[in-house]
Amino acid sequence: MMRWFISCVCFFLGSIVTLYAGEGMWVPLLLEQTRYEKMKSQGLQLSAKDIYDINHASMKDAVVLFNGGCSGVVVSGEGLLLTNHHCGYDRIQAHSTLEHDYLTEGFWAGSHEEELSNPGLEVDFLIEMKDVTDAVLALVGDTMTESERWQRIKEGTPEIAKKSLPLGKGYKAVIKSLFNGNQYYLYIYQTYKDVRLVGAPPSAIGKFGGDTDNWMWPRHTGDFSVFRIYAGKDNQPAEYSPENVPYKPAYFVPVSLRGLSPGDFSMVMGYPGSTDRFITSPELSVLVDVNYPLRIALRNIKLDIWKQAMKQDPLTRIQYAAKYASVSNSWKKWQGVIRGIEKAGGIEQKKAAEKLFLEKIMSNPQWNTRYAGLPEAFEKTCEMQREYIVPSILIKEGIFGVEWMQMAEKICRFVESLPSGDENSWTSLLNEFISDQSSFYRNYRPEVDREVFTALLTEFLKNADSRYIPAALQKTVDKKFHGDIFLYVKDLYDHSVLKDQASLGKALLKAKSGHAGKVFNLPEIALYKAFDRVFLEKIEPVSQSVDWKLDSLTRIYTEALLLLNADQPVYPDANLTLRVAYGSIEGFSPSDAVLYTPFTYLDGVIAKEDTSIYDYKVPARLKALYEAGDYGDYGVGGRLPVCMLGSNHTSGGNSGSPVFNRNGELVGLNFDRNWEGTMSDVLYDPEQCRNIMVDIRYVLFIIDKFAGSKHLVSEMQIVK
Ligand code: ARG
Ligand code: ASP
Repeated sequence: MMRWFISCVCFFLGSIVTLYAGEGMWVPLLLEQTRYEKMKSQGLQLSAKDIYDINHASMKDAVVLFNGGCSGVVVSGEGLLLTNHHCGYDRIQAHSTLEHDYLTEGFWAGSHEEELSNPGLEVDFLIEMKDVTDAVLALVGDTMTESERWQRIKEGTPEIAKKSLPLGKGYKAVIKSLFNGNQYYLYIYQTYKDVRLVGAPPSAIGKFGGDTDNWMWPRHTGDFSVFRIYAGKDNQPAEYSPENVPYKPAYFVPVSLRGLSPGDFSMVMGYPGSTDRFITSPELSVLVDVNYPLRIALRNIKLDIWKQAMKQDPLTRIQYAAKYASVSNSWKKWQGVIRGIEKAGGIEQKKAAEKLFLEKIMSNPQWNTRYAGLPEAFEKTCEMQREYIVPSILIKEGIFGVEWMQMAEKICRFVESLPSGDENSWTSLLNEFISDQSSFYRNYRPEVDREVFTALLTEFLKNADSRYIPAALQKTVDKKFHGDIFLYVKDLYDHSVLKDQASLGKALLKAKSGHAGKVFNLPEIALYKAFDRVFLEKIEPVSQSVDWKLDSLTRIYTEALLLLNADQPVYPDANLTLRVAYGSIEGFSPSDAVLYTPFTYLDGVIAKEDTSIYDYKVPARLKALYEAGDYGDYGVGGRLPVCMLGSNHTSGGNSGSPVFNRNGELVGLNFDRNWEGTMSDVLYDPEQCRNIMVDIRYVLFIIDKFAGSKHLVSEMQIVK
């Protein structure tokens, strides 16, 4: 009995702070103090300085933040970079035309000259990180409100950052909070802006399984793309120029063909974006009982309509492919989170941990005045949150998730930003704005959007309390259309100027000749404004104060947890800065009697093939290679590995992260997680949480044998 009790105590405390094997996204600078010994005992052969060192080249010099939201890794002395296909997707799409459809066919540059430039695409190299907590916290005092605090930090940190900024090209210094405002770190980056597309497999490899397999194991996706970083002649960052030369990195990673086996040590380095591991039970319950279910339901409506339209018309399929993938990515993840939390008894786990927290706090009179009220305060604040969360989501996710509403919002922001006075000077700004909208209209189907709006407006009117319904809308629907929403929306769309770029242009230029206010009188813009006003007047004042309150409580709660756990290493939530996660190659059991093993093979790709389903088409060339069975150095035991599963703790942003073996050699690229484990952002369960990686041997096989680009493999330092 006693033993049972002790193990439960550890479990519950562990579920707030730390730590299961495999859990954690560790700060590289602190590796030595926090995790290094553990990693070594699990097989790591490197020193902490091999991973992160500011005085000598180290692995961190090869791992980049790619395009501000993904990760990537440099694999040659010529600036060759690997990331995911889904991280390069926008760029591959931007270069695609009907004649050169690189999304469908893939793209491979035969020489440096054929590599394609990507305006706006950047990679950031981390130069150094340091603790600036004292300097930042000196800016604030304990009596400040949370918003005053935030304002002071926002105003004061640029000065602190500036002092550390090295002289030279492309440097930037960013200060970010760790542990919810309890610590602050400075990060110095060097940003390279000439990043060219070198290669991408066809989507039938890079996105094989599509949205159906997304967030799922078993997986058979070759989710990678290849870029190259260019620099000026001095090897420093430079704007794009044909004169630029391939970047010579301080360090690039060797690539191993030896692969990993179940149980082997693995390590992921990259840029996880955001996690919320200190979330309390009342917050988690709002999230999984109200927030996610409602957003899922609203997205169901939209995705169903889009899917139908995409099925009926091939052009619509292309136009809505990227939008569908993006809306469905979170939609599917949230469902996984809800299931995972339910299965793990996540809310009960958090509650038990909070009870224990309170007991600990009460045992020390020094702590209890500052911390004892926390659980109750969280509870009360979340009660307030429950009052507006439904209308807030109905408007933000539902109504403002309609495409033309987003256009209306853009128009309003644009018109409001016009300089007052001389209306003639607006003409060029207006023309520029109108022409900027071509990317929206290229992928826009008003009849599809109309159906979405009808359905989401119906949902809103059905579920929103009457005080959140714009009065003019209710009146028009009732009086003019006798409550028939379908007819109301039809009329709105029939007369809408937002249907196409030409009508929009005409309407905006006409409004200009009178005055800008006329734009706001257009019925569809007026409707957007009415919803916006409801939000600003009836929701935001409360929601903002709740958000500040939760920020403040979370900061103090985290402070208490750090205090209670001062004797053990704790990792901070992800904040889109470089982290190290480690674990091993392992499968899991998603349900009773089902066991997932950690490797998939090309055989599995072929077995999944279904020519009638878009997501499961297999390129003929890949099938021919499979039939020939010639995998060269990339196969093992007559089979070609495709994806692997591991217990490395990752999150959104870790896509494209290099996966290393115990010697620091590249063995894979991270790209996803399993559905059962997507809750790892709020609750890590070592039994269920896994990351999904593409095996580097599949990547090299596709580059070499499928695409015939052996010269790229020859650039790499291959370890056989
Ligand atoms: N789930 C992956 C991550 O969150 C994205 C995979 C992209 N593929 C897709 N079919 N949407 O980013
Ligand atoms: N697919 C995610 C990414 O793009 C990774 C994840 O959430 O596991 O970063």
